[in-house]
Amino acid sequence: MTDVQTETGADTQVEQAGSASTRRVVLMGAGGLGAAAVLAACGTATGTNPNGTDYAATPAPAGSKGPAAGGGGNTGGDSGGAAAGAALALVADVPAGGGIIQGDYVITQPTQGTFKAFTKICTHQGCEVGEVKNGTINCPCHGAKFSIEDGSVAGGPAPKPLAETKVKVDGDNIVAA
Ligand code: FES
Repeated sequence: MTDVQTETGADTQVEQAGSASTRRVVLMGAGGLGAAAVLAACGTATGTNPNGTDYAATPAPAGSKGPAAGGGGNTGGDSGGAAAGAALALVADVPAGGGIIQGDYVITQPTQGTFKAFTKICTHQGCEVGEVKNGTINCPCHGAKFSIEDGSVAGGPAPKPLAETKVKVDGDNIVAA
Protein backbone atom coordinates (compact mmCIF):
# COMPACT_ATOMS: atom_id res chain seq x y z
CA MET A 1 0.00 0.00 0.00
CA THR A 2 1.28 3.39 -0.85
CA ASP A 3 0.75 5.94 1.86
CA VAL A 4 2.08 9.24 0.70
CA GLN A 5 0.92 12.61 1.77
CA THR A 6 1.94 15.76 0.04
CA GLU A 7 2.34 18.96 1.90
CA THR A 8 1.20 22.08 0.20
CA GLY A 9 3.44 25.08 0.17
CA ALA A 10 2.89 28.22 2.16
CA ASP A 11 -0.31 30.04 1.43
CA THR A 12 0.11 32.80 -1.06
CA GLN A 13 -1.44 36.13 -0.36
CA VAL A 14 -2.14 38.59 -3.11
CA GLU A 15 -2.41 42.17 -1.99
CA GLN A 16 -3.65 45.03 -4.08
CA ALA A 17 -1.07 47.79 -3.92
CA GLY A 18 -3.73 50.43 -3.77
CA SER A 19 -5.56 48.93 -0.81
CA ALA A 20 -2.80 48.98 1.76
CA SER A 21 -0.48 51.47 3.30
CA THR A 22 2.87 52.01 1.66
CA ARG A 23 4.64 50.56 4.70
CA ARG A 24 2.58 47.38 4.60
CA VAL A 25 3.14 46.97 0.90
CA VAL A 26 6.87 47.34 1.42
CA LEU A 27 6.84 44.79 4.22
CA MET A 28 4.72 42.39 2.24
CA GLY A 29 7.02 42.85 -0.69
CA ALA A 30 10.05 42.03 1.41
CA GLY A 31 8.31 38.95 2.76
CA GLY A 32 7.39 37.92 -0.70
CA LEU A 33 10.98 38.20 -1.83
CA GLY A 34 12.04 36.08 1.10
CA ALA A 35 9.49 33.43 0.26
CA ALA A 36 10.51 33.54 -3.37
CA ALA A 37 14.14 33.08 -2.38
CA VAL A 38 13.23 30.10 -0.24
CA LEU A 39 11.14 28.61 -3.01
CA ALA A 40 13.91 29.19 -5.49
CA ALA A 41 16.36 27.50 -3.14
CA CYS A 42 14.04 24.54 -2.81
CA GLY A 43 13.63 24.40 -6.53
CA THR A 44 17.33 24.09 -7.08
CA ALA A 45 17.95 21.59 -4.31
CA THR A 46 17.09 18.57 -6.38
CA GLY A 47 20.35 16.77 -5.90
CA THR A 48 21.03 13.24 -6.84
CA ASN A 49 22.60 10.52 -4.82
CA PRO A 50 25.56 8.47 -6.02
CA ASN A 51 23.12 6.12 -7.71
CA GLY A 52 21.76 8.95 -9.81
CA THR A 53 18.42 9.07 -8.09
CA ASP A 54 16.69 12.41 -8.16
CA TYR A 55 15.47 12.76 -4.57
CA ALA A 56 12.81 15.31 -5.31
CA ALA A 57 11.35 13.30 -8.15
CA THR A 58 11.48 9.98 -6.36
CA PRO A 59 8.20 9.03 -4.76
CA ALA A 60 8.13 6.95 -1.63
CA PRO A 61 8.29 3.32 -2.65
CA ALA A 62 5.23 1.15 -2.27
CA GLY A 63 4.96 -0.18 1.21
CA SER A 64 6.87 2.66 2.79
CA LYS A 65 5.25 5.13 5.05
CA GLY A 66 5.21 8.60 3.64
CA PRO A 67 5.79 11.81 5.49
CA ALA A 68 4.03 11.92 8.81
CA ALA A 69 0.81 13.91 8.99
CA GLY A 70 1.62 17.50 9.62
CA GLY A 71 5.14 16.67 8.43
CA GLY A 72 8.04 19.01 8.34
CA GLY A 73 10.43 16.62 9.98
CA ASN A 74 11.70 16.99 13.49
CA THR A 75 13.43 19.95 14.95
CA GLY A 76 16.38 18.13 16.42
CA GLY A 77 17.41 18.05 20.01
CA ASP A 78 16.08 15.87 22.74
CA SER A 79 12.49 16.35 21.77
CA GLY A 80 11.32 12.78 21.65
CA GLY A 81 8.41 13.56 23.87
CA ALA A 82 8.48 10.38 25.95
CA ALA A 83 7.85 11.04 29.62
CA ALA A 84 10.72 10.08 31.90
CA GLY A 85 10.30 6.49 32.94
CA ALA A 86 8.11 5.58 29.99
CA ALA A 87 9.04 2.14 28.68
CA LEU A 88 10.09 2.22 25.04
CA ALA A 89 11.13 -1.39 24.54
CA LEU A 90 12.20 -4.57 26.26
CA VAL A 91 15.95 -4.97 26.66
CA ALA A 92 15.68 -8.50 25.33
CA ASP A 93 14.08 -7.31 22.09
CA VAL A 94 16.93 -5.02 21.02
CA PRO A 95 19.79 -6.90 19.36
CA ALA A 96 23.38 -5.95 20.14
CA GLY A 97 24.88 -4.21 17.12
CA GLY A 98 21.41 -3.44 15.78
CA GLY A 99 18.07 -2.13 16.84
CA ILE A 100 14.33 -2.16 16.45
CA ILE A 101 11.66 0.28 15.42
CA GLN A 102 8.91 0.40 17.99
CA GLY A 103 6.25 2.98 18.68
CA ASP A 104 7.59 6.39 17.76
CA TYR A 105 11.21 5.39 18.25
CA VAL A 106 14.18 3.53 16.91
CA ILE A 107 15.88 1.82 19.85
CA THR A 108 19.41 0.61 19.23
CA GLN A 109 22.16 -1.22 21.07
CA PRO A 110 25.34 -0.13 19.26
CA THR A 111 27.54 -1.97 21.75
CA GLN A 112 26.60 -4.62 24.26
CA GLY A 113 24.69 -3.03 27.12
CA THR A 114 24.54 0.49 25.62
CA PHE A 115 21.13 1.58 24.44
CA LYS A 116 20.08 4.60 22.41
CA ALA A 117 16.74 5.86 21.14
CA PHE A 118 15.96 8.18 18.27
CA THR A 119 12.88 9.51 16.58
CA LYS A 120 11.79 7.31 13.71
CA ILE A 121 10.92 10.31 11.55
CA CYS A 122 13.51 10.85 8.84
CA THR A 123 15.01 14.34 8.73
CA HIS A 124 14.88 14.43 4.94
CA GLN A 125 11.20 14.58 4.08
CA GLY A 126 9.53 13.05 7.09
CA CYS A 127 9.09 9.41 6.14
CA GLU A 128 9.28 6.81 8.85
CA VAL A 129 12.56 4.94 8.80
CA GLY A 130 12.04 1.36 7.77
CA GLU A 131 14.80 -0.85 9.14
CA VAL A 132 17.94 -1.15 11.23
CA LYS A 133 20.56 -3.06 9.32
CA ASN A 134 24.35 -3.26 9.04
CA GLY A 135 24.90 -0.58 11.63
CA THR A 136 22.57 2.00 10.20
CA ILE A 137 18.97 3.10 10.51
CA ASN A 138 17.62 3.21 6.98
CA CYS A 139 14.86 5.25 5.41
CA PRO A 140 13.05 3.56 2.52
CA CYS A 141 11.91 6.74 0.81
CA HIS A 142 15.14 8.16 -0.61
CA GLY A 143 17.87 6.09 0.95
CA ALA A 144 18.94 8.13 3.97
CA LYS A 145 21.02 6.24 6.51
CA PHE A 146 21.69 7.16 10.12
CA SER A 147 24.21 5.78 12.59
CA ILE A 148 22.84 3.47 15.27
CA GLU A 149 25.40 4.98 17.65
CA ASP A 150 24.34 8.61 17.61
CA GLY A 151 21.74 9.07 14.88
CA SER A 152 24.19 11.01 12.72
CA VAL A 153 23.78 10.98 8.96
CA ALA A 154 25.65 8.04 7.46
CA GLY A 155 24.45 8.41 3.89
CA GLY A 156 21.78 9.70 1.56
CA PRO A 157 20.01 13.04 1.44
CA ALA A 158 19.16 13.60 5.12
CA PRO A 159 20.24 17.09 6.18
CA LYS A 160 20.69 16.40 9.89
CA PRO A 161 20.79 13.60 12.48
CA LEU A 162 17.80 11.85 13.96
CA ALA A 163 16.83 13.50 17.23
CA GLU A 164 17.89 11.42 20.21
CA THR A 165 15.83 10.66 23.27
CA LYS A 166 17.89 9.79 26.33
CA VAL A 167 17.15 6.36 27.70
CA LYS A 168 18.29 4.04 30.47
CA VAL A 169 17.76 0.45 31.45
CA ASP A 170 15.22 -0.13 34.19
CA GLY A 171 14.91 -3.82 34.94
CA ASP A 172 13.78 -5.55 31.77
CA ASN A 173 12.83 -2.30 30.08
CA ILE A 174 14.52 0.50 28.22
CA VAL A 175 12.88 3.64 29.51
CA ALA A 176 13.05 7.33 28.76
CA ALA A 177 15.57 8.94 31.10
S1 FES B 1 12.32 10.99 3.67
FE1 FES B 1 13.80 11.06 2.08
S2 FES B 1 15.32 9.70 2.76
FE2 FES B 1 13.90 9.67 4.37
